[in-house]
Amino acid sequence: MKEIVVSGIRSTGNLHLGNYYGALRNFISMQDEYNCYFFIADYHSLTTHPDPTQLNPNVKSILAEYLAAGLDPEKSSIYIQSDVPEVCELFTLLNMHAYVGELERTVSFKEKIRKQPENVNAGLLTYPVLMAADILQHKANLVPVGKDQLQHLEMTRKYARRFNTIYGVELFPEPDAYKFKGEPIKIPGLDGSGKMGKSEGNCIYLNDEDKVLSKKVMRAVTDQGPTEMNQQKPDVIENLFTLMKVVSTSDTYNHFDELYNKCEIRYGDMKKQLAADILKVTAPIRDRYQDIIKDSDYLNKVAKLGAEKARESSAKTLKEVREVMGFRSFK
Ligand code: TYM
Repeated sequence: MKEIVVSGIRSTGNLHLGNYYGALRNFISMQDEYNCYFFIADYHSLTTHPDPTQLNPNVKSILAEYLAAGLDPEKSSIYIQSDVPEVCELFTLLNMHAYVGELERTVSFKEKIRKQPENVNAGLLTYPVLMAADILQHKANLVPVGKDQLQHLEMTRKYARRFNTIYGVELFPEPDAYKFKGEPIKIPGLDGSGKMGKSEGNCIYLNDEDKVLSKKVMRAVTDQGPTEMNQQKPDVIENLFTLMKVVSTSDTYNHFDELYNKCEIRYGDMKKQLAADILKVTAPIRDRYQDIIKDSDYLNKVAKLGAEKARESSAKTLKEVREVMGFRSFK
């Protein structure tokens, strides 16, 4: 039997290079080989209280980006999280075995407390449990995610194991992170900060127009340049090279790495090359997106088909979970 793959992206706006290289690219490469469920996490996006008028356009836009990037609704189940309400029941049931102490220790929760102290809602606290329900409802074996999600995945494994142990069953597999070319990836921001992210405000979007994108790359933070041969790169420069490593060919990367080591690098040239290489990836996606986003009938059809397939799988698991936990008819 084919291994099962589940993953999703929150509907908080357009997709950026971090989403693409950390997640979407892997979704596309997996769809031929595995039984895949890819969704848009609109419930999860509610933890930051988005404007309700933006929820629907954001979901629609990500669905169009999934398709424009090459996800195929015939090969994978592509669905919207809120179209599969079964996940909420599993979330409720899993919550009974998720402890507040361990949830409070989650790195992402602690970060959110810092970033939005005025909105520390229960949805933020239980975010990893809903994520576990997303994954476990399909009995997934593999979950393609970026580095920032590894702790959440570890918690999913813990909840799966805990459930199986408490009820003496082998119901949930413990899913592994899918590692593309070895290591889980973190795409850096080009503003000198750690990671590229929506809330960091430092994103290069798949949808950026050529000029906008080039401008963002050309403005990337750099330094005065190396002063000694083979010196270690400071973080801001390492960030540029990290991005080049995923986007450009290895010849291009090695070329600029050599120039850096010989103290002959011109950051302007490197950025120009980087912008051109990013555009090679994003421009075709952006062009296809322009057509797909206009076709609401097609998008509705894809979402409906995906929801049907996902609900079937989810309902099957939920039936087993209910039985195991003691929800039965009277005898
Ligand atoms: P979200 O929307 O924050 O991120 C979606 C995916 O993009 C990856 N990602 C990155 N990867 C590398 N470098 C970056 N700078 C970067 N920024 C984002 C994330 O690792 C993620 O894979 N909680 C999930 C959504 C979710 C989910 C799930 C994922 C909900 N339920 C079940 C997998 C399985 C998230 O944070 O998405």
